Amino acid sequence: MNGPGRVVVVGSANVDLVVDVPRHPAGGETILGGDLRRNPGGKGANQAVAASRSGGADTSFVGALGRDEAATLLRRSLEDAGVRTDAAQDVDAPTGTALITVAPDGENAIVVAPGANAHLEVGDRQAERIATADVVLAQLEVPLDVVRAASRARRPGALLVLNAAPSRELPDDVWAGVDVLVVNEHEAADLTGGRDASGDARQAPEQLAAVLLERVPAVVITLGGEGSVAARRGAEPVRVSGVRVDVVDTTGAGDTYCGVLAAALARGVPIADAARLAGAAGALAVTRPGAQQSAPAAADVLALAEDRPSADRPSSRPAGTSRKGS
Ligand code: RIB
Repeated sequence: MNGPGRVVVVGSANVDLVVDVPRHPAGGETILGGDLRRNPGGKGANQAVAASRSGGADTSFVGALGRDEAATLLRRSLEDAGVRTDAAQDVDAPTGTALITVAPDGENAIVVAPGANAHLEVGDRQAERIATADVVLAQLEVPLDVVRAASRARRPGALLVLNAAPSRELPDDVWAGVDVLVVNEHEAADLTGGRDASGDARQAPEQLAAVLLERVPAVVITLGGEGSVAARRGAEPVRVSGVRVDVVDTTGAGDTYCGVLAAALARGVPIADAARLAGAAGALAVTRPGAQQSAPAAADVLALAEDRPSADRPSSRPAGTSRKGS
């Protein structure tokens, strides 16, 4: 495929209210944190920024924004990254808000008040834009009916990439529309029922991928600093090696990964190579604070991906082993 590839991201936009904390509070506990930061976020908007800025795709955002100042912040961030926002909807509800705490190890805890995101609909203007895409990228912070409508609006041959986050059960008709599923290990375990009493994924990612391939043609399971497993029906899964970096803030790193993966798939890049590029982008994102602000430049992603030792290999983890993190 020639050209940058067209990605339409269908999903959420949130204003992220972020506080650095010495540790995440327990139930019923009050702790003191650092100064409040107000950042553009939301899985959909984060992925759109990454597809454009970090992945170089011609990118549109289909989402819902309130008629408020948070919407202005989000539109500016999307447009500064080169994302088309003319197919976004203005609705009579407050722009989505995410309450985020970030611990010193970079791990976050997030609660989302969906607001406008819950009112997103795929109307004529949105459907027309979706029909221009090589890849439609969706997540689960918007109603499932939106994912269904986005799937129906695709042109023949366009891929629906679903990042099944936050985790929830998927009805059969949603499964049926997915071409590429992107999940971390915990989401994969939730979708396969493969989680033990402590909450850890019991099965190796290759095993989880094999189960998920019964429902979708291709799966990417992200493993945080350990890389990812990219698997297609009828082919050996490929273990893509991770990149070791100093973690500052993991917020939005998974979204950066998804945006760059979608951008690469839209250019016709094979899935394991797309996962390698996405991994490099995600690694760069965790070294910086914030969600959309942390999405790296495309040139930096390419440089890091090309610099990495070529340790990717067909996956051969022994059955029954497991690993933590995603
Ligand atoms: O994935 C990170 C995102 O999740 C944050 O930006 C927050 O808005 C929530 O949607």
